Amino acid sequence: MSTIQDIVLAFRDKPGGIIEAYHAVQKEYNYLPEETITVAASTFGVSEAQAYGVATFYSYLSVEKRGKYIIRMCESAPCHVAGAEALIKAFEAALGIVAGETTADGKFTLELTECVGQCQATPVITINNVPYVNMSPEQVPAVLALCQ
Ligand code: FES
Repeated sequence: MSTIQDIVLAFRDKPGGIIEAYHAVQKEYNYLPEETITVAASTFGVSEAQAYGVATFYSYLSVEKRGKYIIRMCESAPCHVAGAEALIKAFEAALGIVAGETTADGKFTLELTECVGQCQATPVITINNVPYVNMSPEQVPAVLALCQ
């Protein structure tokens, strides 16, 4: 695993480099560890408050620690009508957390999201951005077992 410093420095001369650097760090660590902000501030010549502001502006960036597997449950109308609520409850029960939380072992984060463009086969979840369609609460244990 590359260090945060190495990842951020690789983008120092690029226009909009701070956002690209954040993407790259999040890709490797699944979130932006605190050190990312201080390293980005010094690398891109902005205050830590500004660097933090960028990190928290975009919903796809997270400064909260997240799990190895990020499960996102679509809660837009078509998925909602198709049973998203029951699916969310099944994941919450199976993982022992509520949406927005990460399991204590750091393996899973459960999040809600807007439409992920798979409305032809609702309800839909994604795990690390891979969609799983036509989901039902009964499929939850099998889907979690795929995450090793
Ligand atoms: S509404 Fe859920 S994928 Fe589109």
